[in-house]
Amino acid sequence: MRFGYFDDKAREYVITTPKTPYPWINYLGSENFFALVSHRAGGYCFYRDARLRRLMRYRYNNVPTDVGGRYFYINDGGEVWNPSFAPTNTALDAFECRHGLGYTRITGERKGVRASLLMLVPQGHTAEIHQLTLKNNSEQAKDLKVFSLIEWCLWNAYDDMTNYQRNFSTGEVEVEKNGATLYHKTEYRERRDHYAFYNVNAAVAGYDTDRESFLGLYNEWGEPQVPAAGKSSNSVASGWQPIASHGLDVKLAPGEEKTFVFTLGYVEVPREQKWEKPGIINKKPAHELIAKFSKPEQVDAAMKALADHWSKLLANYSIESSDEKLNRTVNIWNPYQCMVTFNMSRSASYFETGIGRGMGFRDSNQDLLGFVHLVPERARERIIDIASTQFPDGSAYHQYQPLTKRGNNDVGSGFNDDPLWLIFGVAAYIRETGDYGILDEQVPFDNDPKTAVPLFEHLKRSFHHVLNNLGPHGLPLIGRADWNDCLNLNCFSETPDESFQTTGNRTGRTAESVFIAGMFVGVAPDYAYLAEKKGFADEAKKARAEAAKMTDVVLKDGWDGEWFLRAYDFFGKKIGTKENPEAQIFIEPQGFCVMAGIGVEGGQAKKALDSVKERLDTKYGIVLNNPPYTKYHVEIGEITSYPPGYKENAGIFCHNNPWIIIAETVIGRGDRAFEYWKKIAPAYLEEQSEIHRLEPYVYAQMIAGKDAVRHGEAKNSWLTGTAAWNFVAISHYLLGVRPDFDGLRVHPCMGGEVGKFTVTRKCRGAEYRIHVKNSGKGGAPKLVVDGKPVAGDLVPYAKAGSTVIVECEV
Ligand code: GLC
Ligand code: GLC
Repeated sequence: MRFGYFDDKAREYVITTPKTPYPWINYLGSENFFALVSHRAGGYCFYRDARLRRLMRYRYNNVPTDVGGRYFYINDGGEVWNPSFAPTNTALDAFECRHGLGYTRITGERKGVRASLLMLVPQGHTAEIHQLTLKNNSEQAKDLKVFSLIEWCLWNAYDDMTNYQRNFSTGEVEVEKNGATLYHKTEYRERRDHYAFYNVNAAVAGYDTDRESFLGLYNEWGEPQVPAAGKSSNSVASGWQPIASHGLDVKLAPGEEKTFVFTLGYVEVPREQKWEKPGIINKKPAHELIAKFSKPEQVDAAMKALADHWSKLLANYSIESSDEKLNRTVNIWNPYQCMVTFNMSRSASYFETGIGRGMGFRDSNQDLLGFVHLVPERARERIIDIASTQFPDGSAYHQYQPLTKRGNNDVGSGFNDDPLWLIFGVAAYIRETGDYGILDEQVPFDNDPKTAVPLFEHLKRSFHHVLNNLGPHGLPLIGRADWNDCLNLNCFSETPDESFQTTGNRTGRTAESVFIAGMFVGVAPDYAYLAEKKGFADEAKKARAEAAKMTDVVLKDGWDGEWFLRAYDFFGKKIGTKENPEAQIFIEPQGFCVMAGIGVEGGQAKKALDSVKERLDTKYGIVLNNPPYTKYHVEIGEITSYPPGYKENAGIFCHNNPWIIIAETVIGRGDRAFEYWKKIAPAYLEEQSEIHRLEPYVYAQMIAGKDAVRHGEAKNSWLTGTAAWNFVAISHYLLGVRPDFDGLRVHPCMGGEVGKFTVTRKCRGAEYRIHVKNSGKGGAPKLVVDGKPVAGDLVPYAKAGSTVIVECEV
């Protein structure tokens, strides 16, 4: 069942009912100011850090779900309704929510009044704009009482929801222009140099800044007393819960339309200019920001700038084919989601509260794979930030904080795959840009400037961190965990009150990871190549030799007969073997070992992938392991704490499905690869939205596996490595256009379903138009570049500014 449709021309998903199976959200903002907005106008905004600089309060885990947002209450002849349906849930005659690239437009209509609410964060500004257009489509004159409403968060979102003894007394506001501008200045008196405001570009009939006065102490959001009375109470908050609400009297003749612009802004004020007079905040920066968006024309211009920004970004990789689902995924939604993961990492979604998690060392390097072709300069910056948190021995903080860019001590380090992801990220960046200079960039360890060394040295420490930490079989030690955060082989947790990730009470050097081994073999050629470029021929030679050695170890001690083993535990027992009753096979090593080329010649690769098909594939995607664990194993950790079929315990982790998809292309089975991809690609799941439940325009981290009660149901949409990895799978491997160090590789491998397609790729300043005739047979492509046949699959990089025409038959 569908709950909307794609409008590809407008680059929008159009939701046609407020009653979707879950709140379907969008993100606003692309630089420093961000917002989440659901199709019912729920959500919140923040400046840079979702925990420390939260402007709007939002309640996770609330009843009903998705309460708190930007609400407009319309009192039409005594009846109160919202264009966003929520929170009054008054029936509407028409409803539509259009989620677009960086904006959302919600339109509701009732009894001849059409209210359209456009929300966006204009580029270069720290504000959310709400443009409300009211139109009288009826035959009678309308005398509407309209009330805006947002609830302020007292900045630190964690403190705001826990420390009531303090924060019920701290709230402060100021009111200006009879209430047209409402300021939130809690704690501004002390150490804070920032405040927020909510302005409307019109004369108001009244205002409210105190929640209790607006709602009534025992009233729900859907039954607020001020809108019901049709009159603001001009309340001034003192402590408790400050809000901002404007009251507007709007008279509309039949056919008449009026537009109001609301600016919800954030400003920082230099310390020496904080006050206008004692106790009164300096409003000049707010006035300046308000003046930028006080007219609808200014909002139109901001929308145009936003559209141009996205057109430019998306033009870097686009496809034309007969499959519209493929086109919209590659051209619009997948890169859009990649940019959101770039901005948010794993901090704020409807599944991540914006409080708990910083930027992951591993996650951010992987996210980079999906956005490096969109914003290479920002990828460069990100790499330096990440590498600056590394330790001198090559290990890494698992997470760092976006506001301070410092490693996060709470989560610590010891995830032994982390260091290798840095090589992964840097190689992807250099492939895209050719910027070898980044390797000479001086980068500190643990943010201590005295320790700075060239970035290449960081890669070297990463590589050697694996070699310095090998276990009894010569496989890499796993540490706290590898990619699978929940495979905690040194944890042995017996109490429910500790974290599986930070409780490592076994420091033994026995538990080994075949996944890290595969990854090591996979990144070694890139590392060797970069070493050579830097003139370290010996290091390159060593890297290649170590990779060959590791390959042998994997084939000897990491192979179970039909598939790759997953790991050895603390006691040296095998994990992921047919000898065990549960979790006989895991997805991760099958994907990574085959991507690294291990066993491709000897036939093990094909066997492993056939085992995946037989044992892990389901109607809704490939599960992580099979059979699932059914009870807790102290020596295996968090994975065994999940019910069968969910999350890492045999859920469909969409993040690593693409590893299998890419691995299938490595052995030339494009049809199977494409089939796997379609099972998890959101656009193809639109028709089964009632089962999948989440947004049909973005990937989810997990879909419940075949052993789960709710097989096919997704969770954790938006902020997941799934976005980047699937972009890589579809664009680099299925469609087969990927940047390499010395040229653009063109090697489609996707079966015959999509016969003909054109990829337009911009890279290093040149444009490549690649026309593919795809027979579906696979194998080596035949390339003609600007009229001349070329051997192999590499199109050499052309001069910046040029356009290259590539004909490809495969
Ligand atoms: C989550 C984490 C990621 C981890 C994965 C598997 O997606 O963000 O770092 O690799 O789970 O445990
Ligand atoms: C990963 C996993 C999640 C786990 C978290 C922290 O994100 O997906 O299941 O709870 O790591 O351990």
